[in-house]
Amino acid sequence: MKNELSERITVVDTSLDELLPQYDNPQSVIYDAMRYSIFAGGKRLRPILMWETARIFGKEWDCVKELACALEMIHTYSLIHDDLPAMDDDDMRRGMPTNHIKFGEDIAILAGDALLNKAFEVALLSKNPNAYKALQVLANSSGTEGMIGGQVVDLQSEGKDIELSGLQYIHSLKTGALIRSACVIGAILAGASEKEISAIDEFAKNLGIAFQIRDDILDVTGSADELGKPIGSDEECDKNTYVKLCGIEKSEMLVNEYSQKAMKALSIFGNGADFLIKLTDYLINRNN
Ligand code: IPE
Ligand code: IPE
Ligand code: MG
Ligand code: MG
Ligand code: MG
Repeated sequence: MKNELSERITVVDTSLDELLPQYDNPQSVIYDAMRYSIFAGGKRLRPILMWETARIFGKEWDCVKELACALEMIHTYSLIHDDLPAMDDDDMRRGMPTNHIKFGEDIAILAGDALLNKAFEVALLSKNPNAYKALQVLANSSGTEGMIGGQVVDLQSEGKDIELSGLQYIHSLKTGALIRSACVIGAILAGASEKEISAIDEFAKNLGIAFQIRDDILDVTGSADELGKPIGSDEECDKNTYVKLCGIEKSEMLVNEYSQKAMKALSIFGNGADFLIKLTDYLINRNN
């Protein structure tokens, strides 16, 4: 799986390099900062999910390229802002000093903003007949009913006691929304039917929650070297996490439950979804 993923990462990185060029002008530091975080590494999970979902319907990278790179830019901007002192205040990301440590808070804020704008500029380059619908999903999933909404509730819940249902709400928005849109956009661009899109959505909804619970676990049991980001950040910020609310063992059980549900939703696609099933299995057992 690692080898198969690294081949795909190379394809994604080549497109990102093409769509996010460096310019030599008075504001060139902003391209340095955007490209610094984009090319710092990262699993490229969301572009690969979009691509693999499109492959179920017989389409390849060129079908999703612009939207997939746009989504990775939005995800990367969310990480730059998530790491700021005003938010999680972390100093390592993707194995490198965070954007604000390297470029200062002012440029880091602007690099995040710039990646968000660039994302929509790049997505609008798509000639796919369903790109308009895909762009609506992209805008919605990254905004107040999606990732940003989740980040707001995550921050407001620091230091407070919340119910498991409240935590599931946070996870399904702050992380789940972009994972859902990766998969749903892949299906939309590939021309899937409504029934197929809703099966993909069910898969991605469950995968997103499983993925963030695993992230919560790794914040406690992981190694900073492997993760490329600090461990113990959640406890330091007094975050609500699955580990805090139910302990490691129950959290591991829930990762399995959600990922089983995710994989079950793919059964209507038969062998066509084999790679996504393998990927789900890989992600929930990941150490980085
Ligand atoms: C990190 O996402 C933030 C979460 C939503 C948990 P990833 O674990 O996908 O980070 P990268 O893209 O590989 O750096
Ligand atoms: C962040 O969740 C999700 C985002 C929208 C960036 P975390 O704050 O747990 O992500 P990490 O652990 O810093 O990657
Ligand atoms: Mg956070
Ligand atoms: Mg964080
Ligand atoms: Mg985390």
